[in-house]
Amino acid sequence: MKQLELLYEGNGKALYRTDDPERIIVRYKDTATAFNNIKKATIENKGILNNAISTILFRELERAGVKTHYIETLNERDQLCRRVEIIPLEVIVRNVIAGSMAQRLGIEEGTKPSNVIYDLCYKRDDLGDPLINDHHAVALGAATYEELAQIYAMAQKINTVLLDLFGRMRINLIDFKVEFGRTSDGEIVLADEVSPDTCRLWDRDTNEKLDKDRFRRDLGHVREAYGEILSRLKKVVNE
Ligand code: TMP
Ligand code: ASP
Repeated sequence: MKQLELLYEGNGKALYRTDDPERIIVRYKDTATAFNNIKKATIENKGILNNAISTILFRELERAGVKTHYIETLNERDQLCRRVEIIPLEVIVRNVIAGSMAQRLGIEEGTKPSNVIYDLCYKRDDLGDPLINDHHAVALGAATYEELAQIYAMAQKINTVLLDLFGRMRINLIDFKVEFGRTSDGEIVLADEVSPDTCRLWDRDTNEKLDKDRFRRDLGHVREAYGEILSRLKKVVNE
C-alpha cells in the first residue's frame, strides 16, 4: 500500500490517496480546534491517542455489526480506511443534555432527558455547521429520507454499543457526533472518527470530563484525560 498525495486536511486528521482507488490513509494529527476554528492548539500525541482509541472503537462497533470505513491500523498515527463520499451531515446523539443544547434551550448541563435526542447539522464550515432537520437535509440534497432512516438506525445501534462499552469503563457517554459515508457500491458506513474529540465522556464516579471539553473550556490535562480513556478501553477489551 503506497501513500500518495494529500486529499483533504481537516482539524484533527489528514486524508491521503493510496495506489488503491477504494482505499485512503487517515492520519490522526495533534491539532485541535473548537468553536468553528476560533480556538486552535497543538496537543502533543493527541493524534496517537485518538488513533488508538478510534481503532478499538471501530473494531468493537464492527464486531457488533455496525459497518464502518475502518480497515486496519497501519502505525501509531495512520489508519487504512475505505474511500467514501462523505454525507455532509453531522449526526449528534445526546443521552444527557450538555454543550450547545444546554445553552440553546436553557437547560442545565447534566439533565437526563426522557428520550435519546438526535440532532442533524449541515457540514458547512463557512456557515458554522448549522443545526437543521430531516426535511432540510433532503431539500439540500444531503441525503434521501430512506438514507436518513438508515443513518438514524445506525446511530441508535452505535449508541447502544458505545453506552455498553463506556459503561463497563465506568464512564457516562453524554453525547457524541458521527459522520457517515457512501462507498462506491452505495453502502452507507460509519466514517470519520469516534474519539474523545467527538464524544462527551464523564467519569461515572467523579463526573470529571475526559474529553475535548477539557480543551474547549480550558480545563487542562487534555492528554491525560485521553490517556485515561485509552487505558480503561484497553482493560475492557483485554488488549
Ligand atoms: P455540541 O454540544 O457542541 O452540539 O456537541 C455535541 C457533541 O458533538 C459533543 O460530543 C461534541 C461533538 N461535536 C463534534 O465532534 N464536532 C463538532 O463540530 C461539534 C459542534 C460537536
Ligand atoms: N471541531 C469543531 C471546530 O473546529 C467544533 C468542536 O469540536 O468544538 O469548531
